[in-house]
Amino acid sequence: MIKLNKHLMRHLYLFIHNFIYRAGRLLSIIHTKYRLKGNGVIYQNYRIVGTPYIDVSGRGKIVFGRNFCMNNGMMANQIGFNTPCVLRAVNGSIIIGDNTGMSQTTLIAKGADILIGNHVKLGGGVKVYTTDFHSLDHISRRSPKTDIDGSACKSVCIGDDCFIGAGVIILKGVKIGARSIIGSGSVVAKDIPSDCIAAGNPCKVIKMLNQ
Ligand SMILES: CC(C)(COP(=O)(O)OP(=O)(O)OC[C@H]1O[C@@H](n2cnc3c(N)ncnc32)[C@H](O)[C@@H]1OP(=O)(O)O)[C@@H](O)C(=O)NCCC(=O)NCCS
Repeated sequence: MIKLNKHLMRHLYLFIHNFIYRAGRLLSIIHTKYRLKGNGVIYQNYRIVGTPYIDVSGRGKIVFGRNFCMNNGMMANQIGFNTPCVLRAVNGSIIIGDNTGMSQTTLIAKGADILIGNHVKLGGGVKVYTTDFHSLDHISRRSPKTDIDGSACKSVCIGDDCFIGAGVIILKGVKIGARSIIGSGSVVAKDIPSDCIAAGNPCKVIKMLNQ
């Protein structure tokens, strides 16, 4: 067997790595277009790296604004959440404004809407849910039918220029005011006003901005 020196090994590694990356990138561009078209997503121009999981059903709708950016899995953003973005609009809409970006984000608009403004940054692994997915009544939870039908659904709204830190979970009914920042790992269960930094579980205002 030929002994490869360290230098040659590195070059060989980079050559194979680049080949696999480019082939994967090409496949994901085609796969992504197929998923967007197949689910009737309305979009203009976008930059999507990796392939998102997209599912629109019932009266669901997904709309991306201009210059939409999305990173899926490790291919584009090595922040530690090795998952694709998951966008599910089941009898609810996901409406995203202009110049907004997200990485490895999960948006589940079930029975209500997720409205995301312009210039919003959603950090790695953010999750936004319009529903609890299960009934809060233990008897209803015993049957799949009454469990799903009995779960409350409320819209979520994230204002313009918000920055949502990595790993944040935003629960049903929450409104986050424009320009606010949510600290990484927070669980947002109640509304957050505009122009503040908020963090923690439950997420609370830490400080107001520009004061
Ligand atoms: C929220 C954030 C912006 C605050 O930054 P900061 O203004 O420099 O705030 P400080 O570090 O001075 O912290 C202020 C207070 O908030 C608390 N705090 C900060 N971030 C927090 C968080 N994520 N959860 C809970 N508490 C937090 C601090 O402990 C501190 O509390 P104290 O006043 O009782 O000591 C920052 O902590 C953060 O979470 N950044 C997001 C990073 C990220 O996820 N990027 C996305 C990558 S994709």
